[in-house]
Parts: sequence; structure tokens; C-alpha cells
Amino acid sequence: MKKLIEVLPNKTALIERSLSLTVEKITDSIQNKGRCSIVLSGGSTPKPLYESLATQSLPWEKIHIFWGDERYVSHDHTDSNQRMARQAWLNQISIPAKNIHPMPTGSSDPTIDAQIYEAELKEFFQVVPGEFPALDVVLLGMGDDGHTASLFPQTKALDVRDRLITVGNKDGQPRLTFTIPLINQAHCVIFIVAGENKRPALAQIMSTEANGKTYPSRFIDPQGELWWLLDQAAGAEL
Ligand code: 6PG
Repeated sequence: MKKLIEVLPNKTALIERSLSLTVEKITDSIQNKGRCSIVLSGGSTPKPLYESLATQSLPWEKIHIFWGDERYVSHDHTDSNQRMARQAWLNQISIPAKNIHPMPTGSSDPTIDAQIYEAELKEFFQVVPGEFPALDVVLLGMGDDGHTASLFPQTKALDVRDRLITVGNKDGQPRLTFTIPLINQAHCVIFIVAGENKRPALAQIMSTEANGKTYPSRFIDPQGELWWLLDQAAGAEL
């Protein structure tokens, strides 16, 4: 794994850098293999990045969109990560509907929906049993408790190593999430983190002794590139 840390002077610069790096990695994937699989994070930080991606001229028909986690709500719910990305980006571009692969939340049982999404990934990537597909670009955020995707501190999802998708738990609320081994199979993981409230967790995660059970982002150690794009408020002490 190649780990790269960039601290940008402010949130605007962070989003501009996130855009340039994301476009670069998408373009590289398409040049190298004819397509790109990109995994979106939820939360509030990436929304301006998604709005900026909507202005880019990219071969959208060669780009496949996945989500790294999803709140267990309907797709039109204000908390839905899919809804946010569609409104900020995907509804503004001409991308084939079949290229958008949302996490299902319609079966009323998150375990079943996790299995459905896992099967969809295995089919799309023609995964050999027991193997994990290597997605091209995985965008991640980080909570002020050090969680990423829906891998929250001291939860069972952190121990799942034999599945692609599992059920996360935030304060008793179920969420679907990529597992740690699936994220770590990625060719390129890009954390985009802003705000002073993220500083303490970042200091732990960048230290040598932090425990991933307490700070789950610590478990992210991809076989490809690991980028941390931070604004000054979050990354000042690094
Ligand atoms: C989610 C995200 C989650 C998010 C962090 C940071 O579904 O909420 O996937 O992991 O990235 O909580 O959220 P902010 O960007 O809003 O700080």
C-alpha cells in the first residue's frame, strides 16, 4: 500500500483537489481497462465533490457507480446516500441507468439486502468464490469517532472478513456497508476529511498504536493506493 497525505488550506481547496484526483483515477482506470468502478461515500463532505463531478466531461458510459454504505431507509428518504448523490451529480449527467448500482434497502431485512448487493457485486465482477473484487476508486469519509463507511467503533461489522457486504450498526440503526476486506482490495482509496472535529480521531489513526476497533478507519490498508485528502482544520497537527 502506498499512503499519501495532502493537507489543503481550506474546504474549497480540499474539494478542488478531491475533484482533480478523482478525475485522474477514473481516467487512469478507463485508459488501463476500458472502464472504472467508483464507490461513493455518504455524509455531507462529498456533496460538493459530487456537484463538481457533474460538471466534468467524462465517458459516463464507461463508469459504474457503487456505494460503500447506505442508511437503511427508502431511496427517497432525506438520509439516503443514494438520494444525495443522484441529486448532486447523477441526475445531472447522461449515464446509463444500468451503470448505477445502488445498495438495496427494500426487503425490510438488512441482512437480506446485504446478501443481494453482495450477489450483484459478485456477478458484475465475475468473482471467483472466496475472492474479493478489486474496485478501482473507493471514496471514503471519516466520522469524528474514526468510523468510515458504516464501520462503527466496537461493532460486529469490524470482524466480518469473509463477506463483501455486511450490516453495520450506528446507535442501533442498521446500515449496509462494504466490509474491511472488500475496501482493502481496492486499487485506490481516497479519504476526504474536513473539519476541526475530525482532528482527534485523525491523530489516533495516523499514530502507530491506535486500535482499529476503537478507530475503524485504522483498518483501511488497501493493496493499492491510500490517499488522505484533508483540509487544514482537520489535518493541522499531522
Ligand atoms: C455515511 C458515510 C459516513 C460518512 C462519515 C463522515 O453514510 O454517513 O458513509 O461514513 O462518510 O460519517 O460524514 P461527514 O462527511 O458528514 O462528516
